[in-house]
Amino acid sequence: MKLHFQLNIAFTTLLLVIMSVTGFVIYSLILDLLIQDEKAELNQKGELLVQILNQENLQPSVEHISGFLQDQNLQLMLYDRSQNKVLDSTMPKQVVDELLLDNDFSNMGKELWGLGNNKYVTSRILMYPESTGLELILLTPLNELQAVQQDFIKKLFIVFIIGAIAAVIISYIFTNKLVTPLTRLKWQLKKIEKREFDKLEPINATGEIKEVEKSVFEMADELQRYMKSQQQFFQNASHELKTPLMTIQGYAEGIRDGVFDKEEKGKGLEVMVTEVHRLKKIINEMILLAKLDSDQSSYQPGNVNLKEIVDQVLDRALPITNEKEIRILHEVDETLDVHVDPEKLLRALLNITFNGIRHANSKVVINVRQINRMITISIEDDGEGIDKELMPQIFHRFIKGNKGETGLGLAIARAIVQQSGGNITVGTSELGGAKFIVAFSEK
Ligand SMILES: Nc1ncnc2c1ncn2[C@@H]1O[C@H](COP(=O)(O)OP(=O)(O)O)[C@@H](O)[C@H]1O
Ligand SMILES: [Mg+2]
Repeated sequence: MKLHFQLNIAFTTLLLVIMSVTGFVIYSLILDLLIQDEKAELNQKGELLVQILNQENLQPSVEHISGFLQDQNLQLMLYDRSQNKVLDSTMPKQVVDELLLDNDFSNMGKELWGLGNNKYVTSRILMYPESTGLELILLTPLNELQAVQQDFIKKLFIVFIIGAIAAVIISYIFTNKLVTPLTRLKWQLKKIEKREFDKLEPINATGEIKEVEKSVFEMADELQRYMKSQQQFFQNASHELKTPLMTIQGYAEGIRDGVFDKEEKGKGLEVMVTEVHRLKKIINEMILLAKLDSDQSSYQPGNVNLKEIVDQVLDRALPITNEKEIRILHEVDETLDVHVDPEKLLRALLNITFNGIRHANSKVVINVRQINRMITISIEDDGEGIDKELMPQIFHRFIKGNKGETGLGLAIARAIVQQSGGNITVGTSELGGAKFIVAFSEK
């Protein structure tokens, strides 16, 4: 069921419940109120009548009172307590007799007198002087009050109906205002689903819906960025794989067709072997990157002493440093441990160090130290440094510059460092070359 209807039904039900409860409470209170009010009015009228009688005649006689009472447009009776007898009444004699029969006139506390199915609200006033034992009793039939009650309830019902209609209309307008942005948001999500990012339009919303809209648009941006980077990755990857393949194909066909002399043939085979190695390296690095992205289970962390890791880096680098006459200087705080996968961290540090060796003029410097609560590994060289334009995307896949190979080494290093909970940054070294810093926060 649509949210719009659900909200309207919920609101209308709530309204009906509130109205029914209110109606019931008013219905049950109104008769009591009417009775109290009627009694007070009867009392007032009675007092007034007695006053008038007393003024006109200091020693009221029954005849005089009777004459006076008959002139009043009221239902009343003159009652003699001492004789338990109604001396006179404006009501039919039969009714008075039945009242006398059905009710205990001596019980002053009883407010309602019964007569068959009907009831009477009564008010009793003693005549002055009290010694006469005369009492004026004023009566109003309860069904007159009940008629007033019914009438009141009818009007109340009409007011409730009008109120309910107005409330339902207002509820409809409000829920519409609430639901419309949600519907618009749904359309935007549909566009995202169809990857129509350029067709996205902002929706007019406030509060929580606005926040959801913000998150949805951020998500769409992120998705778009991700798709672009994937696209870029495949383009770059196919380009990187195609170039060596075409070189190999060219030489292979040349050798097959016998277009090369002996020397060229030897050189061709040399190039083919080099290119095959390069292809293997690219494919291996792509597989490693894909694994780092998707396979968390291959990451097996443990306590790693950084001195040991740096020693391993130095051992592996020894053949090339000797060949290229590059020195690696290092200063390592031997006490520092981190909780990472040792194989992976070694791989990341090797990638950075080998880059440094390749670009250095004479030396690479490795420092491992703790600054405040951060453990940092810095690797810098005295080479030409990284191109300014390349710097912002140096960790992206297939980004390579001067003396570049696959362009995947730093992407792998970053993926490993991030998987290890660390952070990698690049800058310029005081030695003139590039400076990479891998940082882990102390546990
Ligand atoms: N120490 C460095 N000094 C200068 N340039 C560097 C250094 N390290 C990396 N680079 C640049 O960054 C690029 C990307 O490095 P990397 O991802 O390791 O790929 P690759 O080494 O295969 O080219 C390199 O091609 C190189 O241009
Ligand atoms: Mg590299």
